[in-house]
Amino acid sequence: MDGLWTWKLFCFLTCSSLAWALCPNNSGVIDLSHQGLTSINASVFVDCPADAHTLILSGNNITRIHNDSFLEGQTVKFYQLLSLDLSNNHIEHIDDTAFGLLRRLEVLNLSGNSLTMLQSLLLDNKFYLRAVDFS
Ligand SMILES: *[C@@H]1O[C@H](CO)[C@@H](O)[C@H](O)[C@H]1NC(C)=O
Ligand SMILES: *[C@@H]1O[C@H](CO)[C@@H](O)[C@H](O)[C@H]1NC(C)=O
Ligand SMILES: *[C@@H]1O[C@H](CO)[C@@H](O)[C@H](O)[C@H]1NC(C)=O
Ligand SMILES: *[C@@H]1O[C@H](CO)[C@@H](O)[C@H](O)[C@H]1NC(C)=O
Ligand SMILES: *[C@@H]1O[C@H](CO)[C@@H](O)[C@H](O)[C@H]1NC(C)=O
Repeated sequence: MDGLWTWKLFCFLTCSSLAWALCPNNSGVIDLSHQGLTSINASVFVDCPADAHTLILSGNNITRIHNDSFLEGQTVKFYQLLSLDLSNNHIEHIDDTAFGLLRRLEVLNLSGNSLTMLQSLLLDNKFYLRAVDFS
């Protein structure tokens, strides 16, 4: 049994539970609240199912939402996302097109952040959006 094969067997036995631990997928709900995240980018979501409908990122230390925070390469990671909870972070800035490709988004929670200026641009193309919490 060569090393690669041993690694593959090891991975077969452990990798799925590891992925679950890094990105819990409970019926399409990804709960990454209170993980001490300071930034969100593709590497945070690498083990996350792309078909999630709810993404919870509350209670982290996120300061900025980047253009590519929800992209994986050039394409949107969570193409079915309906609800995004970014409450209770330290978000001060949201790049113009950060939410642009989350076209199904209905609920966006930005309460408990440090946004000084509401950027109407970020809500462009949000045909389905019905609740935004800026409190
Ligand atoms: C995530 O969970 C849902 C519901 O249990 C399931 O339908 C979906 O296939 C899962 N996704 C992945 C990538 O495991
Ligand atoms: C989160 O930010 C607060 C305030 O800026 C800081 O005191 C705390 O150490 C940070 N925690 C982490 C995990 O970065
Ligand atoms: C991506 O996010 C992780 C987790 O917040 C962070 O540690 C890492 O520095 C970020 N990478 C980039 C390139 O911003
Ligand atoms: C975000 O993307 C838009 C359009 O692709 C671009 O005009 C803008 O400069 C980008 N902002 C940042 C901070 O990268
Ligand atoms: C947004 O999050 C805050 C804090 O977690 C919560 O109290 C509030 O009900 C949420 N708003 C919506 C519209 O879900």
